[in-house]
Amino acid sequence: MNLDDYISAHSDAEPEYLAGLNRKTHLRMLNPRMLSGHFEGRVLSMLSHILKPEKILELGTFTGYSALCLAEGLAENGEIHTIDCDDELEGFLLEVFSKSEFGHKIKLHIGDALDEISKLDIVFDLVFIDADKMEYKSYYEAVLPKLKKGGIILVDNTLWDQKVLMSVDPCDKQTGAIQNFNDYVAADTRVEKVLLPVRDGLTIIRKK
Ligand SMILES: C[S@@+](CC[C@H](N)C(=O)[O-])C[C@H]1O[C@@H](n2cnc3c(N)ncnc32)[C@H](O)[C@@H]1O
Repeated sequence: MNLDDYISAHSDAEPEYLAGLNRKTHLRMLNPRMLSGHFEGRVLSMLSHILKPEKILELGTFTGYSALCLAEGLAENGEIHTIDCDDELEGFLLEVFSKSEFGHKIKLHIGDALDEISKLDIVFDLVFIDADKMEYKSYYEAVLPKLKKGGIILVDNTLWDQKVLMSVDPCDKQTGAIQNFNDYVAADTRVEKVLLPVRDGLTIIRKK
């Protein structure tokens, strides 16, 4: 047993409906690795349960796995808005959400994240950033004004396969973008932040 297996074995099991979605994603999608998966999914669910948010915003829906994990902790009348630019996912997602007990709490927006964020006149309690890595800084600046004081932003993949430790190859724009984003947030006095080594790196940011 390796460390990841040990951690998963000593965390809550993946709920059956999510294990099914995980399998379906691996069968039907070209890049199933984008799905957050069992362990990170339980971390998202736990954080959402602790925060009991009324309004969640997610950037990067993919097959809906993390949206469903976050929805588990929503307040009674809460809702999650999730955005993805890939219109080929829409039919898949509407079917997945309609079969879920949380379906009525999930509002799917198909379009570019920055365009869709600008249309949402909502104050959010919790934001999960997991779309285009090149746009992380723009997403951060776009969501911060829509986040309540004390609200939380979770940012995925901030260790980027540990490539953030290496000097940047000028051709590798994504690693450079994540390094810049991490440096930017680390120096930002408007927020408190901690980068956790959860899966591929999960930064928790709290607006002061
Ligand atoms: C890593 S996946 C999200 C995984 C999902 N959050 C999960 O954990 O299961 C990233 C998603 O972001 C979407 N995406 C990429 N660029 C985007 C953009 N500019 N606007 C909205 N969505 C975008 C992709 O289509 C993809 O589905």
